[in-house]
Amino acid sequence: MVSFFWCTVIALIIFWFYVKFIVPLRYFKRLGIPGPSPIPIIGTLAADTKDGKGNHEVQQIHLEKYGRVYGFFVGSMPAYVVGDLDIIKNILIKEFPAFSNRAMFFKTPGLEKSLANLRDTDWKRIRTVLNPTYTTSKMKQMFPLVNDSVDTFIRKMERVADKNQSIDVSDWLKQLSLEIITASAFGAKCNVQNGGHDRLINSATAIFKMNPTVIALSFMMPRLAPLFAAFDKSFMNGVKYIDKAVASIIKMRRQEGATGANYKDLLQLMIDASAAAESNKSLTDNEIIAQSSTIMLAGYETTSSCATFTAYLLANNSEVQDKLIHEIAKVCGKQEVTYDMLGQMTYLNKVIHESLRMYPPGYILLREATTTFQCNGYTFPKGIPIFIPAYALHHDNDIWPEPYRFNPERFNKDLVEARHPCAYMPFGLGPRNCIETEIPIQVTAATTLAPKNSVYLRVMSHTS
Ligand code: HEM
Repeated sequence: MVSFFWCTVIALIIFWFYVKFIVPLRYFKRLGIPGPSPIPIIGTLAADTKDGKGNHEVQQIHLEKYGRVYGFFVGSMPAYVVGDLDIIKNILIKEFPAFSNRAMFFKTPGLEKSLANLRDTDWKRIRTVLNPTYTTSKMKQMFPLVNDSVDTFIRKMERVADKNQSIDVSDWLKQLSLEIITASAFGAKCNVQNGGHDRLINSATAIFKMNPTVIALSFMMPRLAPLFAAFDKSFMNGVKYIDKAVASIIKMRRQEGATGANYKDLLQLMIDASAAAESNKSLTDNEIIAQSSTIMLAGYETTSSCATFTAYLLANNSEVQDKLIHEIAKVCGKQEVTYDMLGQMTYLNKVIHESLRMYPPGYILLREATTTFQCNGYTFPKGIPIFIPAYALHHDNDIWPEPYRFNPERFNKDLVEARHPCAYMPFGLGPRNCIETEIPIQVTAATTLAPKNSVYLRVMSHTS
């Protein structure tokens, strides 16, 4: 009798394991979609991390091997990689309502209400409030603020150049971009570049760098993500610190009865929206605070990484740097740089775009279908993640000949017009793209103007 009981228990466990971990792995085989072979529980993790390669490099190899659409597994969950530009256009732009949600494997504690994670009507409501923040006229108003911070940066650069010293430019650019983002988003002028505000830098950095073990465990057991995150003290403290700082600015603004006429930043837009009578426009305080951490998360590291790579590429390509210096001298002469001047510097813009092509900080875009959707002969079922391999596409030899060569001329008008509209996507594409493409360009452009003041960029090797 006892043995019958245990036999039944064991049979039920085997059946449960089979249904939960083996059956889902047949998903792509059934549909005739190629891809790496999965292993129960870990999915295609082994193939996706082969030879210590990053996810972006493995996608390049797999696109080559399996074709423009292939399947892989995150644990037992099937996921598509779509590298076909026409299908990408349908997903990101033409059929956007059917793919408006970003696939999320687990909810990052403290950031559940972040725009990047929100879905359906909640995403639409908050995105509608934030969309008008970075219009051209607002960016023009913010430009003196950007210039102020860049002046500090250039003066620091000049001091080290005079002494013929070398610096780790990436740390300095992080401070610069944090200063500009906090100023434009929260109207808070933090003098990050001149010391102080270490806590702000550390918090912004910690939010971006969640512990990899916590991330891996959260992928495998999404429901336990909040529990795992609690162990990542620096991440949780980072979120808490920024939440607290923003909550106190909101309180101060309400006490002084501030409006959009007093403050023209993103925070004020959200505070004003929180008072809106129509529920489709209003935001709760928790939602406002979550967007603030999101801005740190989405804006700070990406912007400084774009500026750092551009500096690195210029330092390694002296002929491009010389050409740029020439353009800057021609447009600016001895005058102070203005917002309109940036628009006239066509070569500068090409340099920044080529840098973002080679090193896109957002190297994968994520979507999922809101309902099962047929598209270009493929069926994308509701809720199955779709990966769009931006880095791999930016290095596709057929689209970008000699993809590893830094060549800003690729962004000449005729070549841009001849390319597929989805060949280049550093800020994503379609209605769910990045909310802010101007600040990064301004920060990078303005710091790139450093050579105007005779600071010539060079790469130095460091052994210690
Ligand atoms: C070089 C700098 C930056 C790069 C390369 C970048 C790139 C991206 C990419 C690839 C996405 C995903 C788009 C998609 O799925 O189609 C994104 C989303 C987002 N970015 Fe940026 N970003 C940058 C700077 C910024 C800045 C400065 C801010 C804020 C001030 C910002 C705020 C956001 C937000 C809130 C989202 C989520 C949008 C949504 O889901 O509706 N980003 N960004």
